[in-house]
Amino acid sequence: MQVYEEASSFIKPCYRELGKSTEETNQRLAAIRDSVAETGTYELTYEELEHGARMAWRHSNRCIGRLFWNSLQVFDARRQETLEDIVTALYSHIEFATNAGRIRPTITVLSPKARIWNHQLVRYAGYETESGIIGDPLSVIFTRVCEGLGWQGKHTPFDVLPLVIQMSGEEPVWVPIPDNLVLQVEIRHSEFPRFEELALQWYAVPIISDMALEIGGIRYPAAPFNGWYMETEIGARNFADVNRYNMLPKVASAMGIDTKSDASLWRDKALIELNVAVLQSFKRHGVTIVDHHTAAKQFERFEQMETDAGRELTGDWTWLIPPVSPATTHVFHRQYNDTVLKPNYFRQNRPF
Ligand code: ARG
Repeated sequence: MQVYEEASSFIKPCYRELGKSTEETNQRLAAIRDSVAETGTYELTYEELEHGARMAWRHSNRCIGRLFWNSLQVFDARRQETLEDIVTALYSHIEFATNAGRIRPTITVLSPKARIWNHQLVRYAGYETESGIIGDPLSVIFTRVCEGLGWQGKHTPFDVLPLVIQMSGEEPVWVPIPDNLVLQVEIRHSEFPRFEELALQWYAVPIISDMALEIGGIRYPAAPFNGWYMETEIGARNFADVNRYNMLPKVASAMGIDTKSDASLWRDKALIELNVAVLQSFKRHGVTIVDHHTAAKQFERFEQMETDAGRELTGDWTWLIPPVSPATTHVFHRQYNDTVLKPNYFRQNRPF
């Protein structure tokens, strides 16, 4: 589709939702038409960027946390074009979003001249060694890239990776994230003191930094955004997946349960207590987190809100169902239309 067509199919619903008059809408569309005719493109106003980023969250079919789409905090860093400015914007994002634990859903739209190589701004390194992988196996390739750029980690299971930023036409550069900006939570379980021996921890804020934001035909390849965690992401996937931290056998042993028979359901028991530990630990540290039952109820309210607003709800069932006890939530028992609407966040090719 031509830029103008994309623009108009964004501006119309956007301006309607913002309560603007047809006159104002038509004026804006005429201005966009002129700009596109003259320069081949146009610029979004802050208001359009803000609402467009919120619509993009609302359209994120895989996200169960969309009830809060309209409260996304949008920082406009499109004009900050030096590496220093971008680093400052990223540090500010981490600090603002973390908010000492009271996590605020936030997006920072960076200059299209920048590309962030990290998958998330805060992420743990992974190292391949003779005795297996240390750290997060998902980070092994990116960790090698960082080392190739001259970064060196401590080789603990939870080394925070540096930011890797590439300005167009230039080589990528790595910058450390100051320790005091990275809020992390040690995982403990009130009924199983031996969880301490597992020495597990996780970072507070998941800030996706490798997806492109597309609004009205304009694409922003660098627009890191965050919400807060649902406990299963950490407890049932990051710590539990066999190809991630693979902790279920150790959790079972810390609980003192037998792992000889699959049919004893030791994995399931360990999984539940690991999820309980994640929830308890985030709560104890005053860090925002949601359990999957509450998240599903919030999502049900979102479904109702969308219906009431006369909008069609879209969703990806395979991602919306929680990985723990999915059939205990309403999400499991209904279907979702997985049409991809715009504005939205899109996966893009890895730059490395
Ligand atoms: N599942 C990813 C992780 O464990 C984070 C994805 C975004 N999650 C969120 N709650 N906003 O790191």
